[in-house]
Amino acid sequence: MKIAKDIKELKDAISKFSGSVGFVPTMGALHQGHLSLIQKARAENDNVVVSIFVNPTQFLPGEDLDKYPRREEADKKICEVAGVDILFMPEISSMYHSDEVKLKAPSYLGYILEGNRRPGHFDGVVQIVMKLLNLVQPDRAYFGKKDAQQLVILQKMAKDLFLPYEIVPVETVREDDGLALSSRNVYLSAEERERALSISRALKAASRLIMAGEFSSEVIEAKMSEIMKDIDVEYIAIVDRDFRPLKKVKIQNSIILVAAKVGKTRLIDNLWV
Ligand code: PAJ
Repeated sequence: MKIAKDIKELKDAISKFSGSVGFVPTMGALHQGHLSLIQKARAENDNVVVSIFVNPTQFLPGEDLDKYPRREEADKKICEVAGVDILFMPEISSMYHSDEVKLKAPSYLGYILEGNRRPGHFDGVVQIVMKLLNLVQPDRAYFGKKDAQQLVILQKMAKDLFLPYEIVPVETVREDDGLALSSRNVYLSAEERERALSISRALKAASRLIMAGEFSSEVIEAKMSEIMKDIDVEYIAIVDRDFRPLKKVKIQNSIILVAAKVGKTRLIDNLWV
């Protein structure tokens, strides 16, 4: 595995590729969720590039940029074992210039829910993902359904800007007890982790209600609130694939989203119906 520390090293290594390229952008502290993206990229492409870059422009002032978990050595080993060809780990100075041309997330999709709680966050995400895609020029780029709004915004970016890269969605990986894997889970104490389980329980309950024929968003949201009463729920939203709110769940065209704070840790999870 080649570790590329700057753009020249990345370009040199990519120039030796033949065949298709799969790309997995990450912010590191890799876990089984990231690994499933890497494995899918490995299975579907001749070459695999992973990037680790804690992107400053997607963190708001006061968010956890400085204390975002960093585990460089472990991440290198995970990528090596997973059969990654190039691990791209650039410095901030090689990714950003002064007074840049800036992309903006869509004004609806980028500024509701996560975008409303974290205004400007998705502007930073589209800016960095566009840069990374243009550097790697993959056939396919892999993103988790765990970050549903991010995935839908990036699919829209690819469509709106006619990007020649396929955006591939990947299922959410969970612990055995249902907790969605996240780099932020390391912040949870044992007691908080136990309470955090109510998020995936609420989503499971929603899924059971829907399977039993209950489609009313109001009823589903009330049940979910009750299950999550011991955590600080920021929002429960039932939306279509364009993130328009739904009064009734539509099979194969709905996403149920939750954001909640457990102690100081903010968690998100969702269910694609
Ligand atoms: P990061 O949070 O490191 O996540 C990298 C990728 O892993 C994202 O596509 C995310 O959706 C996916 N992922 C995280 N947890 C997952 C899980 N439990 N199951 C499946 N996939 C999971 O998302 C980012 O980084 C950044 O915003 C980035 C796209 C790299 C731009 O900076």
